[in-house]
Amino acid sequence: MSNQLSSPTPLAAMRSNGLKGSIAMPGDKSISHRALMFGAMAVGETVISGLLEGEDVLATGRAMSQLGAKIEKRGEHWHVNGVGVGGFLEPNDPLDFGNAGTGVRLAMGLVGTYDFVSRYTGDASLCSRPMGRVLEPLKSIGVQVLEHNDGKLPVALRGPSMPVPITYHTPVASAQVKSCIMLAGLIIPGITTVIEDIFTRDHTEKMLTGFGAHVQVTTAADGQRTIEVEGLPDLRGQEVQVPGDPSSAAFPMVAALIVPGSDVTIENVLMNPTRTGLLITLQEMGGNIEVLNERVSGGEDIADIRVKYSELKGVTVPPERAASMIDEYPVLAVAAAFAEGATYMPGIEELRVKESDRLSAVADGLKANGVECIEGEDFLTVEGGSGKVEGGGRVKTHLDHRIAMCFLVMGMAAQKDVSIDDSTMIATSFPTFTPEMTRLGAEFGRPNN
Ligand code: S3P
Repeated sequence: MSNQLSSPTPLAAMRSNGLKGSIAMPGDKSISHRALMFGAMAVGETVISGLLEGEDVLATGRAMSQLGAKIEKRGEHWHVNGVGVGGFLEPNDPLDFGNAGTGVRLAMGLVGTYDFVSRYTGDASLCSRPMGRVLEPLKSIGVQVLEHNDGKLPVALRGPSMPVPITYHTPVASAQVKSCIMLAGLIIPGITTVIEDIFTRDHTEKMLTGFGAHVQVTTAADGQRTIEVEGLPDLRGQEVQVPGDPSSAAFPMVAALIVPGSDVTIENVLMNPTRTGLLITLQEMGGNIEVLNERVSGGEDIADIRVKYSELKGVTVPPERAASMIDEYPVLAVAAAFAEGATYMPGIEELRVKESDRLSAVADGLKANGVECIEGEDFLTVEGGSGKVEGGGRVKTHLDHRIAMCFLVMGMAAQKDVSIDDSTMIATSFPTFTPEMTRLGAEFGRPNN
């Protein structure tokens, strides 16, 4: 498990001819993090196929090894031998999660409640992101926050000798916050309860149940969900098949919609309804997207998605859909730039605290490429160019893999090349993006601006 991200490597994407062929998706990032963490906590062996071997997930793997789990890759599979609930060892060194918000926020729940000192850090992007959203509920469990930097990393935690179960009504729509509290609840005797008003991705609920935890979910008439986790379960190693990541599929999907003449099939994509907001929105915009071979694998719905070039129309994206496409707004903004008319995306203030301030990074990148947009505190409006986007801009990626990929996608259909200041971060979630898109017909090169 290496920890190598090289020095900044600028990259440009050129206007391409139609993209054609099939592309398999790397494993889902959310499920990959959880597979390593839950495997590390279970007794016996967990065997994972399709794990995303991106930097974010490898960082989680290294952290789980520091806590005593044995993790190795044999052939195509990752094998995790876990320590059992309550069995983590005190780590000697800080747990470094690189760029990964999911890794660090879930780990603070998983480990922070132990009666020893654990330290958490990450790269410049992760160290600028808010951690108060998980530190506050952890404090009410009795966790001491020994160090923090104004609510940000580096953080040091010490769990109490007698942690108490809490009921926590989360003020933000965040699967990371929900999952942090649920994982903390695993080593607390009794029932820990999380209440969420908006249904966020439910991988922790589903996968923990698969590992043998007792998790009860009740949904009220207004959609509010109450999730109860019973402490000290007997978790057993499992076989986990990680489906393809819909958040990565978003890039070839939008590329195929905006590059004239394209016809691309994206294979093995997770279709969990908490993750399909972009697909629904692109269909509403007039995107020719067919969902094929729907099947169930490892308890999750998956399918292949066939996408053909389409003349898109601007839409209003309902704010209640935001949680199911939270990572996909940057690439939706690129699709919107090629649509006819305006696309209005309200209720997206959470974009400001992702790997970068994605609202302003996207707005700046659009403007640099001749696309008109309005950036509000919690919304973005993009004025579409009816198939034509000038391009020619150089985009600042702010250490954000999705900003990097979405503007490379823009370059595949813009009049002039679009370049980004750094492509190395793409390895955090989609290490094969450039070669795989090249195979479909995309062209990349060295920027000349
Ligand atoms: C994730 C939840 C989302 C998402 C992130 C992955 C997860 O974050 O943006 O990429 O795996 O739980 P929030 O829960 O903070 O919205």
